[in-house]
Amino acid sequence: MKSILFRNEELWYLDSGSGPVVVLIHGFPLDHRMWAAQIPVLEKFCRVIAVDLPGYGRSALPHEPLSISGYSEAIAAIIAAEKIEKVTLVGLSMGGYVCWEFAAQFPEHVSRLIACNTRAAGDTLATAKARRLSAQYVRDKGTAALLADMLTRLIAPQTIDESPLVVANIQAIMQIASPESVSATLLALADRSDNRPLLPKLKFPILVVAGEFDVITPADEMRKMSTTLDHAKFTIVPECGHLPPMEQPDRFNEVLVNFLKNTRTQSE
Ligand code: MLT
Repeated sequence: MKSILFRNEELWYLDSGSGPVVVLIHGFPLDHRMWAAQIPVLEKFCRVIAVDLPGYGRSALPHEPLSISGYSEAIAAIIAAEKIEKVTLVGLSMGGYVCWEFAAQFPEHVSRLIACNTRAAGDTLATAKARRLSAQYVRDKGTAALLADMLTRLIAPQTIDESPLVVANIQAIMQIASPESVSATLLALADRSDNRPLLPKLKFPILVVAGEFDVITPADEMRKMSTTLDHAKFTIVPECGHLPPMEQPDRFNEVLVNFLKNTRTQSE
């Protein structure tokens, strides 16, 4: 792992392999380890940068409030520090929100985008209100109740029944997240922008990946989102919920690698 100082706080990321740069951006409340099954496959033909977003993994929680645009600026700081021109962004759920934001703020640095189990819309008023209540609850009482509820929605019943090691790994990563980080992120999620108007403007190859049984970002909603993108392919990974890279790593990797190998761009 390497680190830079971003707004006076340590920002950590894994940097391995060589070739076109692929930046992996995790979901909430996980860290770069959610990509453990992708990194060894990608680093055979890509340079992989797997980030711990501020407040997660080894990266410090900033003193100022978190925001999705601040997360995007953190990715830009890593790219600037590494003197990288173009990247392929891969983001899952909250990581996908960061990808849209990055594409809005720094389009000149994006060559391709893989949006997994995510949406471009902001929160509805009701969702944002519930998140703010949860943020307060987590600050007062800790993360245990929120994480227990999230786990059942994050992964498919089949994963819970058949893959206890995967479940234990997801729990272990989530439990590392501090109540302060989780609470601050809930507020950032509630306040994020609606990036739907951005989508038709994106002119690079995009892959939209859904999980067959995802209840957080359902496959049908993702399919509809993909039709508003000019250059998108849409794929459903079978037999998983919101976390295909962890629940169905082989199937997810096949989809990811095929897309990366079939869309090589001049700029890389
Ligand atoms: C995530 O997986 O990152 C979260 O489910 C995002 C969200 O709650 O909107």
